[in-house]
Amino acid sequence: MTETAASAPAGPGRERQGVVYRNGALGRRPAVPTSFGDLERAARRASSKRAWAYVAGGAGEGRTMRNNRRAFDRWAIVPRMAHGVTERDLRTTVAGTSLSSPLLLAPVGAGALMAADSDLAIARAAAATGVPYIFSNQGCNSMEDCAGAMGSASRWFQLYWSSDEDLVDSLLRRAEAAGAEAVVVTLDTTMLGWRPQDLNLGSLPFARGEGIAQYTSDPRFLDIVRQRIDAAREMVTERPDVTFGAIRTLVSMTRNHPGRFLDNLRSPVPRAAAETFLDIYSNPGLSWGHLATLRERTRLPIVLKGILHPDDARRAADLGVDAMVVSNHGGRQVDGSIASLDALLDIRAAIGREPTVLLDSGIRSGADVFVALALGADAVLLGRPYMYGLAIAGRRGVEEVVRNVIAEFDLTMALTGARSVADIDERFVRPNPSF
Ligand code: GLV
Repeated sequence: MTETAASAPAGPGRERQGVVYRNGALGRRPAVPTSFGDLERAARRASSKRAWAYVAGGAGEGRTMRNNRRAFDRWAIVPRMAHGVTERDLRTTVAGTSLSSPLLLAPVGAGALMAADSDLAIARAAAATGVPYIFSNQGCNSMEDCAGAMGSASRWFQLYWSSDEDLVDSLLRRAEAAGAEAVVVTLDTTMLGWRPQDLNLGSLPFARGEGIAQYTSDPRFLDIVRQRIDAAREMVTERPDVTFGAIRTLVSMTRNHPGRFLDNLRSPVPRAAAETFLDIYSNPGLSWGHLATLRERTRLPIVLKGILHPDDARRAADLGVDAMVVSNHGGRQVDGSIASLDALLDIRAAIGREPTVLLDSGIRSGADVFVALALGADAVLLGRPYMYGLAIAGRRGVEEVVRNVIAEFDLTMALTGARSVADIDERFVRPNPSF
């Protein structure tokens, strides 16, 4: 054996440990906690009640969120020894996008609840860490501004299928022009789930103009808003009660609308925009017929997000989509829903290993990424953890969370003996005898 340990590249795991420990020797702590539990607690302390309810909250009694985590706990990693693996290849390609690691940042709406200019901060962190950002259709900065903040770094665009087909086309055109490398249609949120944390506060960010920046920057959407304002002028409408809460909502809508605050305050557009968004952002009648029209409406690879049933996965595969995301929307839609990791197993059993399948909902750490890949995911989406990083330390917080997850994933590969992403399969896991 002539090879020396020093000749092997460190990899992102040891590099990140090196940065943290070197800074520690100088008396500097990481900006965000490196374990999920502490991250969550710190983010909660850093957030307003409304922000926490929206971002951390889930549907009903929270059973789906718990299922997502319990599904991971049911699996154990079984490391191999003396494997001699010193170099690991974390790269992969999904739906035509090259990834430096099997990780993408999930679309999360209304991020400005956590930090101002949230989506710009996330976009910059994504570009700095080389992880694609899926722009939220319910974002707080326009996709054009986010793209401008990312240079040539990879981005996808999440689409909520509006009940206005021209708005769907307009969003698709803009996503193409903004350099998105795929469109991700979210299927599971044709209406918002029953979310007690928000309901108990009577808090819906969109009603305050938070999370509608993709719409207020859209020419088709603004046409609809103007038409509705004109139509309302001809009707006698009730005057809303003037309460302190109503004034706060008006100020929030006014501030969140593009343009000058005083002009917006005098204009009916910000309020009409929030109402229009709530009426048309989604189409409760969304069907496979709608989805079948996508191919001729965009040149972008098509990804369907929110698949949980094997029959829907078969349908998506038959439609020839480029990828699907097994997801229960972070447990935010249906209470008591199947865990996304459990659904992944059913879906792989039904459609085989060939179609590209990503996993979303429940990923908290690099070890989770490893388990998801071992059970058949081609890549995963990270959601709440990076939002918590954003709440604690803005862009730097997002960057650190992403680097920490990738670092732990790399170390898990190193310590189990996985050479590459393709190498990670069911040989490395088994049902957890301790569960
Ligand atoms: C929207 O996507 C939400 O989960 O609130």
